Amino acid sequence: MSDRVTQIRQAFQERFTGAPVVVRAPGRVNLIGEHTDYNDGYVLPVAINRDVMFAVRPRADRVVDLYSLNFRASAPFSLDRLVPDRSQPWSNYIRGVAQQLGREGLPLTGMEGVIEGNVPIASGLSSSAAMEVAALMAFQALGGWELDGAKAALLCQRAEHEFMGVRVGIMDQFISRLGKRDHALFIDCRTMQYEAIPLNARGYVLMIADSRRSRELAASEYNVRRSQCEEAVAQLRAGLPEIEALRDVTPQQFRQHNWRLDALPGRRARHVVSEDDRVLRAVAALRGQRLAEFGALMNESHESLRFDYEVSSRELDVLVGAARLVEGCVGARLTGAGFGGCTVSLVREEAAPEFERHVTAMYRRETGREPIIYTCTAEAGAGVIGG
Ligand code: GLA
Repeated sequence: MSDRVTQIRQAFQERFTGAPVVVRAPGRVNLIGEHTDYNDGYVLPVAINRDVMFAVRPRADRVVDLYSLNFRASAPFSLDRLVPDRSQPWSNYIRGVAQQLGREGLPLTGMEGVIEGNVPIASGLSSSAAMEVAALMAFQALGGWELDGAKAALLCQRAEHEFMGVRVGIMDQFISRLGKRDHALFIDCRTMQYEAIPLNARGYVLMIADSRRSRELAASEYNVRRSQCEEAVAQLRAGLPEIEALRDVTPQQFRQHNWRLDALPGRRARHVVSEDDRVLRAVAALRGQRLAEFGALMNESHESLRFDYEVSSRELDVLVGAARLVEGCVGARLTGAGFGGCTVSLVREEAAPEFERHVTAMYRRETGREPIIYTCTAEAGAGVIGG
């Protein structure tokens, strides 16, 4: 990472004078608890060693002029005219966050500088949330105010709802802002209470396999899933009038009342209810260092996402299937919204090279595509790197 900090500082100095403020916000991998956050449920994500960085300095006017090293483009805009830019969509995350901060009445300064990221885009590792949270951190660092972590996450989520039109849950922005090094966060997405769970199982690593199929239909299908869950709640209320979200339905209640549900909302709800339960059991397993049990829950989560929630893809299924054939891989599942993107696997350290070799070969053979496979570590949430 320090190499990238040096590079971004250099890139800043080639274009501007003075010393920049550098902020970063990480992407995430979710270990378990998929499509539960917008159902008021539980999630267990990790902030990873991939992030978005902004190296910026304030401007006297209300212009935000940032150069993206990834896209080799800038997309200047005025804080007084926040409209989407179709030609440089990456800048919309920054615009959307600026809009929300403005609505909160927080003083915003214009800024200029460079941004760079190494979270793969549209791969299910939350490059969007990393952009939003990094933008917020930049405005915060230059604005001289400080927003509470959970509030910052909510505000970035709102930017995504209103500016990007995707009704995402709170998980990605929350973990990007509040992640803790060497820990996963067990988050209750209703109360926003969270607990850091140590990832100190010696001898295991988290491996990410990127299918390199970007998430087609992700935005529209995501919103459809969300509506189907709302429909399920409405139908279940006939027998369970007290429920407000699928989070309120226990697996036992679900078995009792699922006859009230139409087929599709029924399958969606079965995923969410069982997934919340799996998160609780996974947290207990992690605390007790029962990694085989944890891995089995990851496997079940994938099957549920594949058959009940229907957000997997052929490529993700191939990656998961290949992973499970590797001795020393205790669990594998798709991570993030699905429809493409990445899988996450829990692998014994000594099996990591074989994992990479085998999964790559099998994926290549079955799909004709080249995956990207790497180990990831649990890092701290967003922050200022230097001033
Ligand atoms: C995306 C959303 C999250 C969450 C996941 C699925 O990453 O941004 O809020 O809903 O999908 O678990």
